This record gives sequence, structure tokens and C-alpha cells, in this order.
Amino acid sequence: MMQTQFDPTDFRRALGKFPTGVTIVTTKNARGEKIGVTASSFNSVSLDPPLVLWSLKKEARSIDSFGEGKHFAVHVLGDHQQDLSNHFARQGADKFANLPLVEGVAEMPLLTEFSVRFQCVCQHQYDGGDHVILVGRVLQFDTTECNQPLIFHSGNYAKVAHV
Ligand SMILES: Cc1cc2nc3c(=O)[nH]c(=O)nc-3n(C[C@H](O)[C@H](O)[C@H](O)COP(=O)(O)O)c2cc1C
Repeated sequence: MMQTQFDPTDFRRALGKFPTGVTIVTTKNARGEKIGVTASSFNSVSLDPPLVLWSLKKEARSIDSFGEGKHFAVHVLGDHQQDLSNHFARQGADKFANLPLVEGVAEMPLLTEFSVRFQCVCQHQYDGGDHVILVGRVLQFDTTECNQPLIFHSGNYAKVAHV
């Protein structure tokens, strides 16, 4: 049931005015399957302890896999990785087919191309309405030369223009 006075489409559009980066979050589930989704809800939380968060909609196919609550890896994308972002936002059979991968903490599938990559153990999960909020403790991270992040703003991809 709708609990608000305003139009949900207007609300979505208003939220979209807040620009974010774009990430792909991966994990391996209890059946050994590689799981990955595109997520722009990533954000930093705490330096000490090192915590980050993101949120996943409860309708996502991957909700049970991430809900198992062990580990996840966040890959912050560069501005040349729009196709990869769209790829992991689709419900494909095997999103990882033909992608170069390495194995991370707890056998997580890690992408090899990224701007920054955070490997996390899931510390908390909170109910967030139609999403679940996942808070991860960063175990290790890797950075690359890529310093041009992919941006998502008002439903479109964008690039950073430093001023
Ligand atoms: C740029 C972009 C950002 C997205 N951010 C999120 C997000 O933060 N949380 C979320 O649940 N879905 C987000 N999505 C949608 C998911 O990637 C999409 O629903 C995906 O199909 C989920 O995969 P699954 O159903 O295989 O779990 C985003 C999609 C795009 C294109």
C-alpha cells in the first residue's frame, strides 16, 4: 500500500538528481555460483573500523545469495565501463561468462578491471523498506591508475569534469 502523499515516479526522479558512482558487487553463494549486480547505492561509512554500505532491492534474483551474509566485493567502475555496468544490471544466465576473473577472499569472483576494489566481510544487514542495506567491513582493497569514474545521474551515465 502506498504510504506517501507524493508520486513515486517524482520521488524516483528527485532521488536520481543525486549523482553517484557506479559499482559492480560480486559474491559466491553457498552453491558455489558466481553472483554479481550493478549498484549505485554504494557509499563509505566509517574509517575506523573500515566500513562501507550498499543496498540491494528485495526483488533482485541475487537477494538470497547476498543475504547469506558472508562476503562481497565492490568494484568501482571507470567511465569506460558502461557496457559492463549494463551487463550486470541485466538478469543473464551467467553474467561472468568470458570475463577475466581472479579469486578473492572466500573464493569470491573478482573482476580484473576497475578503479577501486574493496573486499568485504558482511558485518550488518538492515531492513531498508523494499531494499536490504548491507554494511561490509573492508578486509583489503586495490586501486588502479583509472581515475575517471563512471557517474550515474538522472538516469544517465556521465563523466566527472573537475573544476
Ligand atoms: C547504474 C545502475 C545502478 C543500479 N544500482 C542498484 C542498486 O544500488 N541496488 C539495486 O538493488 N539495484 C540496482 N540496480 C539494478 C540492478 O543492477 C538490477 O536490478 C540487476 O538485474 C539485479 O541483478 P539480479 O536480479 O540478477 O540480482 C542498478 C542498475 C543500474 C543500471
